[in-house]
Amino acid sequence: MDINLISAQIKEDLDKASSLNDLEALRLKYLGRKGVIAELTGAIPSVAPEERGVFGKAVNALKQQLISSLEAKQASFAAVNTQPLETVETDLGMPGIAQDLGHRHPITGIIDEVCGIFSRMGFRVLEGPQIETEHNNFTGLNIPLEHPSRDAFDTFYLQDHQKLLLRSHTSPMQVRAMGKNKPPLAIVVPGRVYRPDAVDASHLFMFHQIEGLLVDEGVTFADLKGVLEVFVKAVFGQGISMRFRPHFFPFTEPSAEVDISCIICKGKGCSVCGRKGWLEILGSGMVHPNVFRQVGYDPKRFTGFAFGMGVERIAMLKYGINDIRLFFENDLRFLKQF
Ligand code: DAH
Repeated sequence: MDINLISAQIKEDLDKASSLNDLEALRLKYLGRKGVIAELTGAIPSVAPEERGVFGKAVNALKQQLISSLEAKQASFAAVNTQPLETVETDLGMPGIAQDLGHRHPITGIIDEVCGIFSRMGFRVLEGPQIETEHNNFTGLNIPLEHPSRDAFDTFYLQDHQKLLLRSHTSPMQVRAMGKNKPPLAIVVPGRVYRPDAVDASHLFMFHQIEGLLVDEGVTFADLKGVLEVFVKAVFGQGISMRFRPHFFPFTEPSAEVDISCIICKGKGCSVCGRKGWLEILGSGMVHPNVFRQVGYDPKRFTGFAFGMGVERIAMLKYGINDIRLFFENDLRFLKQF
């Protein structure tokens, strides 16, 4: 057995080894109980006495060198710490990891939808401040200091600023918009409002409204009705009917609340509409002459209509939601449905 030949073979085998499994196979082949080294060692006694010493040392040297080469190679694999690529299972047919896409909050969705309907009819979309003056929130809207209708609205004044408060409706934007612009004027105003209401399934201390205002010469109640009919049918469907019910608001005269036929029972009467067959969706009316006077519009020359709706209420009716608190609890199981 030629030690030089075996040594060359070992080197070749080591160079080819590309995995820990290959190294283990080499260890068995050369260092195993019936391996090449064992065979060489077993042959020592049969070597001629004068050559035996040299041969024995050479076998031993070969063995030590092989052990350290195997260890070095094993360490280099461990350092890379990977399986060679061809042994990693890569399934190119596996579906990728989907990115979670966000979307609009349902309240934002309704605001965009409603404002879109009115802007296609020529209304401009405006926003106003949530902190308002007492004048814009009340007096400018013909709600004097002692008026009983203030009660439901009258809280959340700013400390140290008794004349500033969180607006209790979006109507003060009527005062701001008319103060800055001459008629004709057609606006819708979405935004947050605040009320001193105890929280329950249909009340929150903060919610959203959309205000509407149109002023020009010769505007009549029929215009109000026509515009609201387009809006109601666009949001709730062509089959919906609408009715005006006389009401009182200080800033409109005459005033009306608008009902739509119940979208659940179609007007027959059910638990959602309280057996009435109708659901209230907004307040409206013809702008009161006193409101025009406050902003310097001539009530003999101009007339106009206004309306205000609760966005959460529209969303609850449209989607069949029975608790207003769901909108603001940030429960993704709820929000992901829209
Ligand atoms: N501001 C009223 C409220 O919050 C809603 C309202 C009613 C607005 C009639 C209007 C209107 O513009 O004409 O209850």
